[in-house]
Amino acid sequence: MPASALPRVVILGTGGTIAAAATATTNTTDYELTHGIEAVLAAVPEMQAYARVSAEQFVNMASQEVDNATLLRLALRINVLLASDDVDAVVVTHGTDTMEETAYFLNLVVKSIKPVVVVGAMRPSTALSADGPLNLINAVKVAAAPDAAAKGVLIVLNDRIGAARHMAKTHTTATDAFLVSEFGTIGTVLGTEVNFHAQPLRAHTIHTDFDVTQVATLPKVDITYGYQNADSYMVDAAITAGAKGIVYAATGNGTLSEAAKRGAASAREHGVVFVRSTRVGGGSVTHHRVDAELDTVAANSLNPQKARILLSLVLTLTSDPRRVQTYFDHY
Ligand code: SIN
Repeated sequence: MPASALPRVVILGTGGTIAAAATATTNTTDYELTHGIEAVLAAVPEMQAYARVSAEQFVNMASQEVDNATLLRLALRINVLLASDDVDAVVVTHGTDTMEETAYFLNLVVKSIKPVVVVGAMRPSTALSADGPLNLINAVKVAAAPDAAAKGVLIVLNDRIGAARHMAKTHTTATDAFLVSEFGTIGTVLGTEVNFHAQPLRAHTIHTDFDVTQVATLPKVDITYGYQNADSYMVDAAITAGAKGIVYAATGNGTLSEAAKRGAASAREHGVVFVRSTRVGGGSVTHHRVDAELDTVAANSLNPQKARILLSLVLTLTSDPRRVQTYFDHY
């Protein structure tokens, strides 16, 4: 294909390990965020064979620093880019630690069927067998692939393509850190081939109820954790701090101890929506009679950090727990 016919892909750099360097090639775990997006791109000039690539340094931060304001600004920027006839797809380079949260947020608020691919690396750019360059060129290949359209936001790492709704970080250091225990990946990047084998069915992008164009701040949602001997004061602290929603990373299938039930009751008294997710790392939290008794909401198969993202958006529309439940069943 002549270069002038290649898709135009904009890469938004946000930081993370893909833009980091260590002092030794053997050091894969202790490093600093040093590179701008131009340096990240310079490692993979080969990507120009797949797309006409341009880049913007959107922010440059470790992903644990990404906050709601950054998410809102990123979504607005991507929506502006994708509304242009001069842009065919967007790739976001991002730290892997909170990548699944950003990707799921974008999956719910980007208003385009054009591909959006989020990519990162588990090893810094200076490491032996650094994974960033191959992950990035794979992300560009996916973004440029006609089959990537209308699949929602995608995460590409370690030759796998996953739907933002389902992909989650499951390992602290391994290059295959992103897996989808229950639902599987939706495609692979093998050499020059981009192959899809599944279509995400949960509503995304142009099919969602969420429009953040006029949203200045997202309602505050906090996550608290269930464990043996836990008290309810962490829930009370979140309520006192102004949370409008609480995601409880409960035990098992969203089970609530007596203390957790006191927390849920306290949330209800303060008009705070209380969502039961799970700390287990796989499976779904199913509806339970406790939801009718305490006005709680079952998180379905969203892990706590993704449930927080969805609840933040749903709270821009309603704080009625039964209506909130319908959004968790749908998205
Ligand atoms: C980060 O999330 O910013 C650091 C970790 C990583 O990118 O893998």
